[in-house]
Amino acid sequence: MHSDELPQGEEKSVAVEHMFDQIAPRYDLVNRLMTFRMDVGWRRRTVKSLELPSGSMVLDLACGTGDFCNDLLRYGLDPVGLDFSAGMLNAANTDAPLIRADALCLPIPSNSVDGVTCGFALRNFTNLDEFFAEISRVLKPGGRIGLLDVAEPSNPLLRVGHSFYFGKVVPKIGALLSDRNAYRYLPKSVQYLPESHELLAGLQAVGFTDVNRTLLSGGITQLFLGSLRK
Ligand SMILES: C[S@@+](CC[C@H](N)C(=O)[O-])C[C@H]1O[C@@H](n2cnc3c(N)ncnc32)[C@H](O)[C@@H]1O
Repeated sequence: MHSDELPQGEEKSVAVEHMFDQIAPRYDLVNRLMTFRMDVGWRRRTVKSLELPSGSMVLDLACGTGDFCNDLLRYGLDPVGLDFSAGMLNAANTDAPLIRADALCLPIPSNSVDGVTCGFALRNFTNLDEFFAEISRVLKPGGRIGLLDVAEPSNPLLRVGHSFYFGKVVPKIGALLSDRNAYRYLPKSVQYLPESHELLAGLQAVGFTDVNRTLLSGGITQLFLGSLRK
């Protein structure tokens, strides 16, 4: 993917899949380095916040290399991972079953899972309304969601520091260890993410109640939680 473009629709989907295929072999290494391992804590917090009984079936959408699946297993849940990048699935290191498919068109029966997690992929989807409709379709009434993505801190000082780190340092780490263009795209891809109130409204529109957003680590990451109407 060329760093200066932000494609839309099918072009975006093809470019995102190709980009993750390319960076898959070193994805975990770069992730841990660029977040100082904070990503591990964010996922575990999400899994705990689902408050699902052990044995609950949880679909991890855009599962990448399976980090969320491993945390779900750690907490006694029964995960299934799904991603459209063959490269990411090949690089995955998890005992959870994995499916190659598009998160916007799930090969999963309606009303069949207890929870859905999704880490750092909302901004990669081409249509968030379709994604929200799909997760509402596959969840059982009362089913829980935990969706993570990046955010921009509201504190002005933190915002400047974060923007420098995310915009200048992360692409350098990525270029050194992985793919220059992919890690230049990463900070730009934040532009795809709607405002939080729009995301919350989108979730409510497809039947999620008690939806809320929590900022993590000074506001560099956001977590959306909610339950499907019973
Ligand atoms: C930033 S990675 C996140 C991986 C993992 N969830 C994590 O927390 O590390 C984004 C993932 O979303 C996947 N992805 C993007 N769009 C997708 C779609 N429409 N369907 C399935 N997977 C998708 C990519 O292939 C990639 O593995």
